Amino acid sequence: MFIALEGLDGCGKSTQLRALAQRLQQSKMDPVIVQEPGGTPVGEEIRHILLHREELKMAPLTELLLYEASRSELTETVIRPALASGRWVLTDRYSLSSVAYQGYGRGLDLRLVRELNRIATGGLDPQMTFLIDVPVEVALQRKGRARDRLEGSGVEFYERVRRGYLTEISRISGGVLLDGQKEIAALSEEVWGYIRPLVAAPS
Ligand code: TYD
Repeated sequence: MFIALEGLDGCGKSTQLRALAQRLQQSKMDPVIVQEPGGTPVGEEIRHILLHREELKMAPLTELLLYEASRSELTETVIRPALASGRWVLTDRYSLSSVAYQGYGRGLDLRLVRELNRIATGGLDPQMTFLIDVPVEVALQRKGRARDRLEGSGVEFYERVRRGYLTEISRISGGVLLDGQKEIAALSEEVWGYIRPLVAAPS
């Protein structure tokens, strides 16, 4: 299984990813956990440019291509080999982030974003994608003072990203919309409710 968690910065997906990983480990599974952008040596360099070098201004298409380069490297060198060896892969963000942030958020043509996603992933899509939805205000509050290039983009940008996520999640195969304002434990129980039936019963 290949499972993605998506949502605004501060929606709580990293917490839910850890909780899910823990449940899988308790079920005697050994999932591979990855994060975008990053997760490979080249990807971590790209991550640094994208998120920690605010002084580097770049055009939206350049930004998209950097996310896609990171995604391509991660897919080719980590995700595909892990899936081929029979392991599960959990990812903190994947192609849908580019659709939401660079497409809906930055205003790049959605067909272009989808086409570059397809090229970068070789057509690999998660079997399940959980969108942890929270209002923009809540997301920004939870992020506190932490800022990066994207958070510098303002509330309107995040409203477009959220609307994009909500539009897309109902259209993609295996998409699940979750209410990120629920208690952490209740939410992880809900996620597990979707995943547990897919975990083979121990023999
Ligand atoms: P990160 O700190 O990893 O995310 P989070 O705050 O959710 O833990 O930052 C990732 C940032 O990159 C986040 O603001 C969303 C953005 N992003 C895109 O704009 N497009 C993409 O394709 C991906 C993967 C991330």
